[in-house]
Amino acid sequence: MQKAINISPSLLSADMARLAEAVEIVAGDADYIHCDVMDDHFVPNLTFGPPVIAAVKRLNLIKLDVHLMIESPGRRIEDYLKAGLDKDDFLVFHFEAEPDSEKYLKLIRNAGVRPGISIKPGTPFENVKDIFHLCDQVLIMTVEPGFGGQKFMEDMMSKVSAARKLAKPHQIIAVDGGVDINTARIVVKAGADLLVAGSAIYGKDDPAKAIVDIRKSVTDIS
Ligand code: DX5
Ligand code: ZN
Repeated sequence: MQKAINISPSLLSADMARLAEAVEIVAGDADYIHCDVMDDHFVPNLTFGPPVIAAVKRLNLIKLDVHLMIESPGRRIEDYLKAGLDKDDFLVFHFEAEPDSEKYLKLIRNAGVRPGISIKPGTPFENVKDIFHLCDQVLIMTVEPGFGGQKFMEDMMSKVSAARKLAKPHQIIAVDGGVDINTARIVVKAGADLLVAGSAIYGKDDPAKAIVDIRKSVTDIS
């Protein structure tokens, strides 16, 4: 059976002064819009928070894939839930940032939103095996979180394969960092079915075409 590949353009690489336009440009071709929330603590960069997530949600153009790169995300989960996320949206936080991941994955689920956990390159997949069943998405970072445009880390693919082996049909295996028309093939072969891409989409003159091109690059292997 063919596996559906989801593409999630990352707003981090879009023009921050024209976020609505950036969402509109990709909404017809992408499956999700990836929103990178950074707090200048968990990662050395700062982006946006609940008001911007709420504004993107209000556009009502595409499902949201919210990637929290913040310290102690549990303290703020309610704020993100209040931003209007619903049953088709993902709310993903970092395992390394939250000592009680299980509690907050359950909280997100109980609020009717799809919970996800993300791991940095230095975190082994084994560390999240026990909470895997609570997740609708496992996001495997293929760069150190914080910035777009970094080099893809192919050695993370063993984690993708390990996650794929455990995954039930409703569980999505996502990869974030350095995904482009070439590396997309590597991640799909390893078993990923959600590709986050920032610079490979918004760095191009025609972001919609860039999505189509990434999708085409994996059609024979998905
Ligand atoms: C990095 C972010 C990514 C980033 C990816 O910490 O989580 O989502 O936007 O950017 P590219 O695709 O350019 O590596
Ligand atoms: Zn991200």
